Amino acid sequence: MSKILVNSSGPLHGEVEISGAKNSVLPLLAATILTDQTCIIEGVPDLVDVNVMKKMLRNYGSEIDDSEPGVIRAQMKEVASCEGDADLVQEMRASVFTMGPMLARYGKVIMPLPGGCTIGKRPIDLHLKGFRALGAEVIEDVENERVIVSAEPGTIKGDAIYLDFPSVGATENIMMTATLANGTTIIENAAKEPEIIDLANLLNKMGARIKYAGTDMIRIEGVKKLSGCIHAVIPDRIETGTFMLAAAITRGDILIKNALPGHVRPIIAKLKECNVKVDLLPEGIYVDARDRELIATDIKTLPYPGFPTDIQSPFMAFLTTVKGQSIVRETVFENRFMHVVELNRMGADISTQNREAVVPGSKQLKGARVRATDLRAGAAMVLAGLVAKGTTEISEIYHIERGYENFVNKFKGLGADIMKIERD
Ligand code: UD1
Repeated sequence: MSKILVNSSGPLHGEVEISGAKNSVLPLLAATILTDQTCIIEGVPDLVDVNVMKKMLRNYGSEIDDSEPGVIRAQMKEVASCEGDADLVQEMRASVFTMGPMLARYGKVIMPLPGGCTIGKRPIDLHLKGFRALGAEVIEDVENERVIVSAEPGTIKGDAIYLDFPSVGATENIMMTATLANGTTIIENAAKEPEIIDLANLLNKMGARIKYAGTDMIRIEGVKKLSGCIHAVIPDRIETGTFMLAAAITRGDILIKNALPGHVRPIIAKLKECNVKVDLLPEGIYVDARDRELIATDIKTLPYPGFPTDIQSPFMAFLTTVKGQSIVRETVFENRFMHVVELNRMGADISTQNREAVVPGSKQLKGARVRATDLRAGAAMVLAGLVAKGTTEISEIYHIERGYENFVNKFKGLGADIMKIERD
């Protein structure tokens, strides 16, 4: 298995360019199912998850042209299969984003139960509740570990749907289904993430009538048909946060280009509470942690615009190095502290109870053999390795490659002593 080796690197310095957002591009690609015309998506990051989504779409019958780097042209003229490929769905949970578009356009989808990062149970009950509310029949075929969602032509009808939790994926799936429904759909307690707005923008370019995306009440007026469009993916706010933390943990300074400060406000606020300098410059976000005494802060993860759960583990790695004790509370997922065991192998001395972690801080971490237990935990291990004494050897790095483009080289460009060892 391939590994990443990281040595203590000193302060990182330089510029880094942020790629298109993984969590945006996946639903955007799924949305291309909704029309028989060509959709051109620009600013597409080169990620394993994007490749899985391309395979997923091809399996349904979509023609994908990815010959130009960073651009995907997708056209779903006719359906070849209404069944999601089980191996692909196991590989990537975001495969379920294709359910809404398949239901809306073809009136049927069979979806094996999803895989992806092992962070908690991650059910899809809210997605299914949405499909049912819009008039679909949902059969949970537990024996064969799959879900069958279907509707007779013309029976998908707009309705008011209240989400018990502002799930990102459920909001996206319902929004996509509702674009071609009869009548108006209102999603109440909708997720407000920037990726939701990006998807609504793409759908509206295709001819959908979506209003108020980005608020907790989205209104979708169904239309008969959608058309092709050209759309560029927004920058990745989690990658942005990861490089902000790379500057902070190494006590370096990094200019982060192609980043949207409005999407990372809680990360900026929390870094400032730790006494890290963050300047919003015309050319990017400049993070400077040189020659400053950095101090503890508490973190509580929340749906957007709260502190992102995807930055919890990288931020925790940083907090192990600052003065004083920090408390980290995870409220979005019920099992997202697997990185604590790995950070403790490096001497972090973190204790957890339920969804709360106590980080004592002021630690000199030591290099160790650790695992990337999920995508963002993998990023946390790289950050910890940059300041640990000796060498940190990170295994299971396929998680990192699912969601960070050109990760090792971007770190090398900032002066990190890091390398990937390729093994079968
Ligand atoms: C998306 C992101 C992921 C991020 C997460 C929360 C993508 C591809 N992934 O995942 O990186 O960590 O948002 O910001 O965009 N839930 C239910 N029932 C459901 C759906 C969700 O109980 O039907 C629960 C989940 O178990 C979890 C919480 O809601 O505890 C949040 O999940 P959700 O917002 O749906 O996350 P994803 O869309 O899977």
